[in-house]
Amino acid sequence: MYQTAAKCDKLMTMKQRTTKELDAARKYEKRESAADFERPFFHFSPLIGWLNDPNGFSYYDGKYHLFYQYHPYSSFWGPMHWGHAVSDDMISWEYLPAVLAPDMDYDRLGCFSGSALTMDDGSHLLMYTGCSDKPEDPTGRSRWYQSQNIAVKPQGETEYVKYTGNPVITGEDLPDGTDPYEFRDPYLWRAEDGTYRALAANGVYDETKGTQLCLFKSDDGFDWRFETVLFEDKRKIGVMWECPNFFPLEGKHVLIASPMDMQAEEEEAVGSIRFPKGNNVCYILGDYTDGEFIPDADENGRFIYAPVDGGLDFYAPQVMETPDGRRVMIGWMQDPKSANHHDDSMRIFGQMTIPRELSLKDGILYQWPVAELEAYRKEKVHVSQTSLSDSWTQLTGIGGRSVDILAEITEADRAVGIRFAADAGHFIQLVFEPVKSTITIDRSASGLSEEMTAKRTIKVRNRGGALSLRILIDRWSAEIYVNDGEQAVSLTFYTDIKAQDIAFKAEGRAFIELIKYTISG
Ligand code: FRU
Repeated sequence: MYQTAAKCDKLMTMKQRTTKELDAARKYEKRESAADFERPFFHFSPLIGWLNDPNGFSYYDGKYHLFYQYHPYSSFWGPMHWGHAVSDDMISWEYLPAVLAPDMDYDRLGCFSGSALTMDDGSHLLMYTGCSDKPEDPTGRSRWYQSQNIAVKPQGETEYVKYTGNPVITGEDLPDGTDPYEFRDPYLWRAEDGTYRALAANGVYDETKGTQLCLFKSDDGFDWRFETVLFEDKRKIGVMWECPNFFPLEGKHVLIASPMDMQAEEEEAVGSIRFPKGNNVCYILGDYTDGEFIPDADENGRFIYAPVDGGLDFYAPQVMETPDGRRVMIGWMQDPKSANHHDDSMRIFGQMTIPRELSLKDGILYQWPVAELEAYRKEKVHVSQTSLSDSWTQLTGIGGRSVDILAEITEADRAVGIRFAADAGHFIQLVFEPVKSTITIDRSASGLSEEMTAKRTIKVRNRGGALSLRILIDRWSAEIYVNDGEQAVSLTFYTDIKAQDIAFKAEGRAFIELIKYTISG
């Protein structure tokens, strides 16, 4: 049997194990690392600087590993590194030194997103996109060139070392007519027969084609060959479907990807939209047999796709399998289009969602915070069923900016409002309107910059005036799980931490029952 570590050693001993770029990043992150008060309490954030996509989310050598798109040197996107952290429970993370820096010709402009595999010999293999300005586009346009590359940490060692045979997949390996430049975000898995697969996205700007997700195969994790186009978006829903994930779940296969630059899509419900204009995340259910993915289709034979998150900040999630067989997804809790509107005095920017367990019910992808979060619940407060009044009212013991709240709304006839992160001048507002079967999240009074999207209305299932919510508030973000995880709504806000109030109001009749926990370590 082929031994990954042996191959690496053979090919890499001559190379330096770290480079001056990686050493510099490590020195910097160690010296400048953000203090606890600067970061979210129970959501993952970068050691210092900027974070975007989760990468290499995996369980390896007895720990959960999370890598992340990382620009340590400022709180804005820049030449991408990979940051690294490990955890026993996916909630408390221990930072480890950065693992990848842009230090090779093929990744000089950045080590973009990718994923991880555990190999038979105990090594941890990362595949990531190297972004470079070479080779130049023959048409003379200034474009990035992207290829897929490998870094491996042999068992018992600490360094992830770039493979000397990089790049392992390039535009040359793609079928004719595909764009060899925009080609990124490989998602790895091991097939049942022990061979490996990588699914990567490429943008096709040809009139006749849409963006494709290309599947590659390997026997050893190093030598890859093109297998098939697993999925093509001929309908041109967005210009490129970044960060694909593909995995089995309860008898189906799930494709999750992040289409860029979508047009807004309206829902039948008044004023609600399924997808806002911009970058979104969607999922497609289907069947995968003999290397072919057949998406579930509507009556016109068109693939059915649905939003993964109905909030204002969610992108580029990554899904992994836990040792006990759960499929868990973690996402970048940020709309990429509004990621540059923060104050440049911030020393860190970007956070992940809580890892979410995925399941299927009636053809819908359900999401729920990992059970491990429950160990952090303290100070339970129970408010038994209460009739809500028509003015904003606080309920005894319900408030705070690090909380996990379960709310059951019943018999609502017109509207129920919940405000949180509130003080005299600020609040985030969630409104449930049972007649329209909608909820609206509105952060326009949070003190946000005016360029940011402030509001979104989504359709919720009609349960005759009932709605159940789980609301996680963590300093500068909220995740709201609707009807046991049938929908999730994520958003960030930068309201002063002193705004701790939570208040409730109803128009017409409504009852609420609440359980609140403080989340603490
Ligand atoms: C998604 C993305 C990926 C890319 C990475 C670069 O947010 O654009 O497609 O690999 O970010 O940081």
